[in-house]
Amino acid sequence: MADNSALNSGVDCREHLRPTGPTMSAHVDAIQQQAAALRAAIDDANYRYYVLDDPSLPDAEYDRLMRELEALEAAHPELASADSPTRRVGARPASGFAEVRHVIPMLSLANAFSDAHPPAGVDPDHEVRDFVRRVEQALGIVDPEFSVEPKFDGLAMSLRYEHGVLVQGATRGDGTTGEDVTANVRTVKAIPLKLRGAGWPDALEVRGEVYMPKAGFRAYNERMLREGGKPLANPRNGAAGSLRQLDPRVTASRPLAFYAYGVYRPEDPDAVLAHRYTAAMAIVRGWGLPVCPQSGAVRGVEGLLGYFRDIGARRDQLPYGIDGVVYKVDRYDQQRQLGFVARAPRWALAHKFPAEEQSTRVEAIDIQIGRTGAATPVARLQPVGVAGVTVTNATLHNADQVARLDVRVGDSVIVRRAGDVIPEVVRVILERRPAHTRPWKMPAHCPVCGSAIVREDGEAAARCSGGLVCAAQRREAIRHFASRRALDIDGLGERYIEDLIAFDYVHSIADLYTLTLGDFLAMKRRAEERDGVIPETVKAGKIATKWADNLVAAIEASKATTLERFLFALGIPEVGEATAKTLARHFGSLDALAHASEAELTEVDDVGPIMAAHIAAFFAERRNREAIAALRKAGVHWQETAPQRKVAGPLAGQTVVLTGSLSKLTRDEAKDKLESLGAKVAGSVSKKTSFVVAGEAAGSKLDKARALGIEIRGEAQLLELLKAHGA
Ligand code: IVH
Repeated sequence: MADNSALNSGVDCREHLRPTGPTMSAHVDAIQQQAAALRAAIDDANYRYYVLDDPSLPDAEYDRLMRELEALEAAHPELASADSPTRRVGARPASGFAEVRHVIPMLSLANAFSDAHPPAGVDPDHEVRDFVRRVEQALGIVDPEFSVEPKFDGLAMSLRYEHGVLVQGATRGDGTTGEDVTANVRTVKAIPLKLRGAGWPDALEVRGEVYMPKAGFRAYNERMLREGGKPLANPRNGAAGSLRQLDPRVTASRPLAFYAYGVYRPEDPDAVLAHRYTAAMAIVRGWGLPVCPQSGAVRGVEGLLGYFRDIGARRDQLPYGIDGVVYKVDRYDQQRQLGFVARAPRWALAHKFPAEEQSTRVEAIDIQIGRTGAATPVARLQPVGVAGVTVTNATLHNADQVARLDVRVGDSVIVRRAGDVIPEVVRVILERRPAHTRPWKMPAHCPVCGSAIVREDGEAAARCSGGLVCAAQRREAIRHFASRRALDIDGLGERYIEDLIAFDYVHSIADLYTLTLGDFLAMKRRAEERDGVIPETVKAGKIATKWADNLVAAIEASKATTLERFLFALGIPEVGEATAKTLARHFGSLDALAHASEAELTEVDDVGPIMAAHIAAFFAERRNREAIAALRKAGVHWQETAPQRKVAGPLAGQTVVLTGSLSKLTRDEAKDKLESLGAKVAGSVSKKTSFVVAGEAAGSKLDKARALGIEIRGEAQLLELLKAHGA
């Protein structure tokens, strides 16, 4: 393992950017050591994150190390090395993939299912018992040892390492010939570019699954739906589609990971790393390749079924998607004895879970109105059991998605429910489309309040324009306003909010502050009458009012709040908790924010033009201003502060790139000073760069600046500029 003591001892990388030592060669050695230390620290962080599942560095620190290494390598191009973590995205877009022949064919697995509703007298697990019986008979033993691991829902991958360095990544293809996707595989951070430790054979092939973790899949799709892009149908397609990109930069932007489940020596296919598969995988893990922590070894059929049930029960909580588990005879000598049938080994079995996808029929397509008026189309389905749950509705996300899928009332569709993910329509089974269906169109009017439904240019969501006139928006707005992270009105749950709206006690959020004990009691009585339940309010001969007392007190208590909570509670489209906080800090007072122009709003960190437009539109709307005035009048208050906005400096709007080493100040000092004058300091040169400051031994960034015809300044000019502006 490389030594990273230079990092642990707190040596500042910047020190090495300028010559300090007495001799040049000592200086070069120091820089080389520094680069090696940074690379080792980054590789180590990846190893701890992906292999040990024990992250050691906060993201910001990891990014900082990467930037330091990039800077060092840019200033000293002679340090370049293909296995540096900065070189994951290297290759240019390809025009196609070369073929790779698999010396050892990539086989498939025999499948088994457990029948969830077996006919009387039938053993639901008989396929698994048959498998174990066949293994026992062929080996002449009882209760053989098996490795057990999840069956990952991704794409099979073969990785070739030569002398410990990743040289090739190939897809399975037809099992004999796959595609060379090396440039893409290199971008997967879970896959080491260089093996750790020692003792690996000169040529090593590791097989496993590239997959897209559930969290990454969800975040990616949420972003696509927000930005009007194309969401991925499922994590499996996400992994497969990402690896087949011709431009590795696209692959690099996708959240992919990897688990190893096989290891070979391509030069000697019969050789093994250990006597057992599980032991071999432990060795592979030591070399830095992730092996699934939910894998293990068991004995006999009961061991297998126990594992299957245990993983099945935890399936939704696992951070990756699986479609079953895989059993493998653990001892390699026994595997060899068992051999293969057709395209699958006799020593392994995939025990599959009931499908997460099912087909059913769309009975109607309704729209649901959210807090900000967003109109979400929802498919009403003929009830169908999917992965153990009855599904009757599935989201269609937005009008673009309906158009893309071309879902129509009457269609047969595939619905998917992956873990805790909201069921969704994956695709239409066109072969089963009945005659005379019509494409779906977003209705022109809100089904709840009748207001027009409008869709602004550049937005994925259509919205009901009714604002708080719309009961659906009112209900969602009040629910949001009262929620824990907003004004936190304890006890004001969904049921009470429904009834407050149903019986017309509240029209706007401000009305909450006019409610009296009598109102709550009257509301409850009416709800009880409507529902035909025994009035709880007069049970046992006395009127129970404690709950209403508590509610009135909670509403009163919510009046003392903070500006950031209040801003968040207003439910301005696109303004989440983090933005509310930034806005509160930047403007200090509600009035300053309410009077800010769109241009002033975009000056705030992280506020883009779309969000600025939403904020400005919100405060321009008379009803919103009235609601805010009413809330303040009712006594909702917070502490206002002086604005903490950054003043635009003389270099505002300029983007500067620093490269090479400076002699009079460190790079961080230069960065701080430039930023204090309003400039943005970027890590790489692009068309947007205003000028590049080139110090001693400037490298590839300088070349790029020259190629793009960008102005290049020296250290002296930088110092002059800083001085001229008093920095
Ligand atoms: S072992 C000869 N282990 O399943 C054994 N495969 O049907 C070859 N898969 O293409 C594969 N998880 O993509 C194995 N833990 C696991 C797996 C796994 C998923 C996939 C793999 C392969 C397919 C075989």
